[in-house]
Amino acid sequence: MKILGMVVSARRLGNSEIAVREALMGAEEAGAETEIIRLTDYEIKPCIGCMRCAFKKEKCHIKDDCNRVYEKMLEADALILGVPDYILGAAGYLKMLLDRSMGYLFAQNRPFYGKPAMAIVPYGVKDWEGLTMPMVSIFLLSLGYRIVDQIMVRCQGPGEILFNEEVLERCHKTGKLIAAGAVKYRGKEGTCPVCHNNLMEIDELEVRCPICNIKGHIIIEDGKLSVKFEDPENHRWTPENIKEHFEKNVLPSGPRYMKLRNEIKERLKRYR
Ligand SMILES: Cc1cc2nc3c(=O)[nH]c(=O)nc-3n(C[C@H](O)[C@H](O)[C@H](O)COP(=O)(O)O)c2cc1C
Repeated sequence: MKILGMVVSARRLGNSEIAVREALMGAEEAGAETEIIRLTDYEIKPCIGCMRCAFKKEKCHIKDDCNRVYEKMLEADALILGVPDYILGAAGYLKMLLDRSMGYLFAQNRPFYGKPAMAIVPYGVKDWEGLTMPMVSIFLLSLGYRIVDQIMVRCQGPGEILFNEEVLERCHKTGKLIAAGAVKYRGKEGTCPVCHNNLMEIDELEVRCPICNIKGHIIIEDGKLSVKFEDPENHRWTPENIKEHFEKNVLPSGPRYMKLRNEIKERLKRYR
């Protein structure tokens, strides 16, 4: 088994990198071949919205390192991701990479589907975690990875994670388990049974996980609040639902644009 570690922090040997390296050490103990990359060493330009990757199933034409990074991810059987919390969200370079993933999201063979992954998210200050883990879960789930563990770890200054032996042990153990073929989720349970986050949209007593698009009802019993989901297996990320979304919502935008193209050109003159 080959496992790729990806660090999305430009801090060399920072907390994310230490955690990823610890997980990879565990994986090596179980016999895995490992490689580590720092995403910020690669040039990732913004997606230009040409849609060729989705409509024509072509590799991205932008000249930068993005295809190289995805190739590394494709070659590996599993992913260990370390991403710090930057201003209540995942460090932006992860989103730059994700925005360039549409070809993989809609590829019929879903090349990442079922590959195990774990995420480690260092953050500095309690209650400043914000949307970081949800953003990391979106990255993994949209590509089709199977999340085995996702860990938020409070450590602010460079290297502070070194004093959290419990978390480092957990990284090591999950890395080892992934290398041994484990795919069962072993992280903290959240409200959503799919992404395991606690981010819910609330409309009176109905709730929806905005990441996984499953709906449920709030139940309050003995002073405890819980959510009963209607159809948790039928979430956004199943290959069938992704295919339906592509065919129903994305694909028709191509011919519609072609039909309107000349009129759009005319109307655009006012804004040039
Ligand atoms: C630009 C920037 C923004 C940050 N924003 C937050 C934040 O919103 N919430 C938080 O808890 N920590 C925040 N932090 C702290 C980092 O998450 C923390 O230092 C983390 O350990 C960095 O991981 P690294 O060593 O792998 O880079 C921020 C750090 C930086 C540099």
